Amino acid sequence: MSVKDLVRAYEGLDRADLRVLRIVELGHRKHEYVPVELVLAYSNMPKTAVSRSLAKLNRLGMLVRRVGPYTGYKMTFLGYDCLAIHTLRKRGIIDSISSTPIGVGKESVVYLGGSADGERYVLKFHRVGLTSFRNVRRLRAWLGDRRHVTQLYESRLSAQMEYRALALLSGRTNVPRPIDVNRHVVVMSRIEGSELYRLRSVEEPLRVLDAIVDNAARAYRVGVVHGDLSEYNVLVDVEGDVWLIDWPQWIPTTHGSAQALFRRDLERVASFFARRFGIAVDIDRMCHVPSGATTGMSVDALIDEILRRVEDEFGEE
Ligand SMILES: Nc1ncnc2c1ncn2[C@@H]1O[C@H](COP(=O)(O)OP(=O)(O)O)[C@@H](O)[C@H]1O
Ligand SMILES: [Mg+2]
Repeated sequence: MSVKDLVRAYEGLDRADLRVLRIVELGHRKHEYVPVELVLAYSNMPKTAVSRSLAKLNRLGMLVRRVGPYTGYKMTFLGYDCLAIHTLRKRGIIDSISSTPIGVGKESVVYLGGSADGERYVLKFHRVGLTSFRNVRRLRAWLGDRRHVTQLYESRLSAQMEYRALALLSGRTNVPRPIDVNRHVVVMSRIEGSELYRLRSVEEPLRVLDAIVDNAARAYRVGVVHGDLSEYNVLVDVEGDVWLIDWPQWIPTTHGSAQALFRRDLERVASFFARRFGIAVDIDRMCHVPSGATTGMSVDALIDEILRRVEDEFGEE
């Protein structure tokens, strides 16, 4: 379903539909398919109204029905998107959302949102697939069988991770300013620029590379390693300033692999500059990879915090 359909579908939902969606979301804590009886029991609504909403949400592709030992419903990303949009609207963060995405990445769909007072924000909807990345795998291992982990839950973890990085880095490094996070959606300031990989020619490629290295090093000093830095995750604005985006897979510098990942990030970027602009760079000369013990959040503290945030959000409308 296209984004146009998402906006239209969201606008077609009434209070009963949203309430049913929300109950299914809560039901997912225990069930992969949430039993109809459970939805009914928690809804405080007449059975006919619940059935009508379930059928409608199913038809719209927000819930998937399974008829097996019992009839149950499972939320899709589309349904989840609607819940997040709804909450962000109620909080007064966004008022409108673009009808087409401005970016579709490996692990996300990105739209433009507008606030009531005319601000333009980026809304990044995380979509973690079954082949999820490092942090989420670690968080998953941590959770063990304490809860039923779905793709939606993983996307939620991923969004919280990204928001946390932006909160740590904003103002100290060139990254989007974090505005809000709900469920699997991060709201952040919009950078008006072009992805580095799109640029065919650059006036002073060395200066751009230098700025990237400088920003990555500043992030390191804050205690954060990007972990997936590349020409796809660097935006260059009209002034020629660089911005580092796409942070869900970051790791704290206290992690045993932090230095190796930091180096790999810079090598990936350097090799792009070599390929595209014919510049040979010696990363060791350009950037001193910090060694020895570093300060910053411990990995355990980070995981604890992210899980707490994700769980806390469940209590919220
Ligand atoms: N803050 C932002 N400002 C402008 N464009 C953005 C912003 N964040 C993301 N984008 C656009 O969306 C695309 C995908 O976002 P990204 O964070 O890289 O996610 P993914 O993990 O899916 O690659 C980016 O390549 C970029 O074009
Ligand atoms: Mg990206």
